[in-house]
Amino acid sequence: MSFSVHATTADAGVRAMKLSVGVPLLFWCWYLVAAQEICVPNPVGGVELASSGVLRWDASTNCPNTIYRVQIDLSGQKLYEIVVAALNYNVAFLLYCQTYTFFVIPIASNVIGAENYVTAVIPIPEGANIAINGLRGAQIDDDVLIQWQVGSQYPHCVDYFNLFIYDDDDDEAEVPKHLQVTQPGYLLQRVAKCSKYRFEVSSSYGGVNGTTERIEYSIPPAVNTPSLGEVRQNAISINTTWNLEKYHVNRCRVTSLLVTGTRFNATYPIEDTPERPNVQVSITGLRADSMYYFSVSTENSAGLSAPYQMAVQTLPIQSSPGVDIQI
Ligand SMILES: *[C@@H]1O[C@H](CO)[C@@H](O)[C@H](O)[C@H]1NC(C)=O
Ligand SMILES: *[C@@H]1O[C@H](CO)[C@@H](O)[C@H](O)[C@H]1NC(C)=O
Ligand SMILES: *[C@@H]1O[C@H](CO)[C@@H](O)[C@H](O)[C@H]1NC(C)=O
Repeated sequence: MSFSVHATTADAGVRAMKLSVGVPLLFWCWYLVAAQEICVPNPVGGVELASSGVLRWDASTNCPNTIYRVQIDLSGQKLYEIVVAALNYNVAFLLYCQTYTFFVIPIASNVIGAENYVTAVIPIPEGANIAINGLRGAQIDDDVLIQWQVGSQYPHCVDYFNLFIYDDDDDEAEVPKHLQVTQPGYLLQRVAKCSKYRFEVSSSYGGVNGTTERIEYSIPPAVNTPSLGEVRQNAISINTTWNLEKYHVNRCRVTSLLVTGTRFNATYPIEDTPERPNVQVSITGLRADSMYYFSVSTENSAGLSAPYQMAVQTLPIQSSPGVDIQI
């Protein structure tokens, strides 16, 4: 750097001012540094994460009383920070199988040195068993939500879960439905009333299965509400066809159909089968041209359904030739 001392132009005064301010400041700064002997610690060496979950590094040795700030980042976000005097720090409290970046920053007498870092995955402890716990089911309308958990440090280690669904009422119960799910839950849709399930879940990680957890789950009973399929009447009879809720919707055993009227009462026993055919109800011996009120309900293992109420008028007697009507 050279300064012109022979300046004669108009900016000579400005230059003189720069000199008089600049030189003493520079000198003062140099003097401060020299006087306090600031020591900037060198970066640490050999930052590594041991399989035991301990972070280690080599000391920064150029300054006395060096301590270390350990900073842990996850996906570029600072997660954790601590200052230690030792040359290691146990990070086994972090989630296993998750990738973190570990920064080690030397600090000597409040002077911060440059960082060094390592990006590493917290290893799953040797021989760890990712057991399933808290396996439970919850009914949501016609569905069952099956949920479970693994230990709080393990969620990132699981590749998938094996879910076996045994339908105990099913003829093919020996062959369960096997699913591989990635979330710790599954929505089993449209379950039948009165059905019984068995759920088995295990975690799969690195080709190994954790301990299986099992539960049995019963869908509570519900009444079987009949719906009217068909109604036919003539002068002396009313025939009705009733559709019952099908077996895949409601497995509770149906025992009878009850017809309750002001003029007649009848119970029709039903031998329930998985096919669950429609039920024909024939009401005979009626008067022509009359209104009949009656209700129909189904009885099953959950009890009596709400009655289906109806009013049917029998036909008037017609004496058309060729039609033989018996009264
Ligand atoms: C893990 O479980 C699944 C499902 O039961 C099975 O097919 C697989 O063979 C098991 N793997 C091991 C290594 O046992
Ligand atoms: C009702 O069913 C009975 C017996 O099956 C039959 O004799 C009668 O004709 C039927 N009535 C009507 C209106 O279909
Ligand atoms: C049928 O049963 C109902 C209720 O049990 C009763 O109120 C009604 O009087 C009965 N009708 C006849 C015709 O027996």
